Amino acid sequence: MSEFEERILKRRTFAIISHPDAGKTTLTEKLLLAGGAIHLAGDVKARGEKRRARSDWMKIEKERGISVTASAMCFEYGGCIFNLLDTPGHEDFSEDTYRTLSAVDAAVMVIDAARGIETQTLKLFEVCRLRDIPIITYINKMDRESRDPLEILDEISQKLALDTAPFSWPVGKGSEFAGVYDFYNKKLILLDKTQRHVQNQGVAVKDLSDPALTSRISARALGELTEGLETVEVLLPTFDRDEFLSGSQTPVFFGSALWNFGVEELLNGMVRHAPPPRAYATEVRVIEPIEKNVTGFVFKIQANMDAKHRDRVAFVRLMSGEFTRGMKLKNVRSGKMLTVSSPLLFMAQSRETADIAVAGDIIGIPGHGVLRVGDTLTEGEELKARGIPMFAPEHLQTIRSTDPLKAKHLYEALRQFAEEGMIRMFRTYISGSYIVGVTGPLQFDVLSDRIKNEYNLPTKLETCNFSGARWIETETPTEVEKFLEKYKSSRAEDHLENPVFLYKSPWDLDRTARDHPEITFKTHIAI
Ligand code: G4P
Repeated sequence: MSEFEERILKRRTFAIISHPDAGKTTLTEKLLLAGGAIHLAGDVKARGEKRRARSDWMKIEKERGISVTASAMCFEYGGCIFNLLDTPGHEDFSEDTYRTLSAVDAAVMVIDAARGIETQTLKLFEVCRLRDIPIITYINKMDRESRDPLEILDEISQKLALDTAPFSWPVGKGSEFAGVYDFYNKKLILLDKTQRHVQNQGVAVKDLSDPALTSRISARALGELTEGLETVEVLLPTFDRDEFLSGSQTPVFFGSALWNFGVEELLNGMVRHAPPPRAYATEVRVIEPIEKNVTGFVFKIQANMDAKHRDRVAFVRLMSGEFTRGMKLKNVRSGKMLTVSSPLLFMAQSRETADIAVAGDIIGIPGHGVLRVGDTLTEGEELKARGIPMFAPEHLQTIRSTDPLKAKHLYEALRQFAEEGMIRMFRTYISGSYIVGVTGPLQFDVLSDRIKNEYNLPTKLETCNFSGARWIETETPTEVEKFLEKYKSSRAEDHLENPVFLYKSPWDLDRTARDHPEITFKTHIAI
């Protein structure tokens, strides 16, 4: 195997999915700590505060206590390079999360041991399943009163139709949580509550009667552990990597992120079993990560890293090859060549300039709106990465400029936001007015804030007559034209000039769909 191939095989590009409050931030911090990317726990939050202070619209994050922006972080552990893509926790920004998940090879699902599978976990899990993303489960907060471990595993297999293969088993729970038994290394790892941020190395035990074990935990805890291990042996499958990679089984780790417990086991598990960068399908052919030529796709545009300059960073997942600074890449959509002279690599503490990155890595390309979400970059080949959809919005509002002279500027601003993927924008056919659509209403607040801070435009968002939008398609283009002529008052187009049907109520949509079986009303289209 070449040195180049070896480097690619060492990449672990993943995201953490969880319901808010399950402990994603705490776990992220401990992962970065284990990877030496930060040196003191607490840095993630401090960094977050600083980042939020940078621009006004991020105040929303602060005021509402939610994380809106996704970022990428990179750290080394166990000989692997981990790329961790952060995803917004709030469901109103789920589309952002969806796109981010298109750029990962695996996901860590964090579950609160007392709460089990919660709504947001379930939704995100479904996205992972659609994309065949293998899942590693981390059951967090074992130091608190929690459910019985078997009950949690049962819930995972029932609600997610996913087999569970525990890598560790908890010894006691709540205030009696003493640590975990590591099945694969036959090791007892005890929780040391004197040091929150130091990983306990554990004690090796021969079997359950080993004094190294019996002298350290109570007879009751030992009894429960013995029973638990027997049950696991009889009822649960052993880990099967193929099943894991195909998405039908999840390895499970128990721990407490707060106490930095079970985190290294999770990382070791990922070093050994999580997949290296995968192949990507395009409309033309499959791209293998070890191909020499560089290909990548934009999965996210993050604006406002520096509000004064209205800068935008396009996050690109490299699908193949080795990227070096200064490289010229072709934006297949526009046909234009782009010299990537100051790319960013997202090391945890600072945005360092990337000199070399390989398939699986994420690079940030700063710019002013040249790249859009969904764009494919190559060294010249004409191909387009598949799979970043644009979803129909769930909330619509009319937007207008209160200064008629600024209407054109407003259009420009909206087009930018639509290209970032933050909003959908529709221009109505009859009046030429603008309607904006979002997945969750909080995004309207972000939109208003950004229009004010970045563009300084006087605008008004108002209730709209329409409740939803669908892209329309038929086998024959003339049918679309006929349909649109008939429904002029519901006719609009998006920022890419795709025809759209706006409807007043689900009933209105149903009836129109019944009357026009020749038309497909689409809830999502490829960008
Ligand atoms: P999130 O990003 O998934 O939303 O969750 P986050 O890490 O912010 O954790 C939510 C709360 O749960 C935090 O408490 C955090 O300290 C706590 N927590 C996370 N992991 C564990 C764990 O393993 N055990 C226990 N006992 N608590 C845990 P908070 O009070 O909201 O914040 P803070 O003041 O502690 O920072």
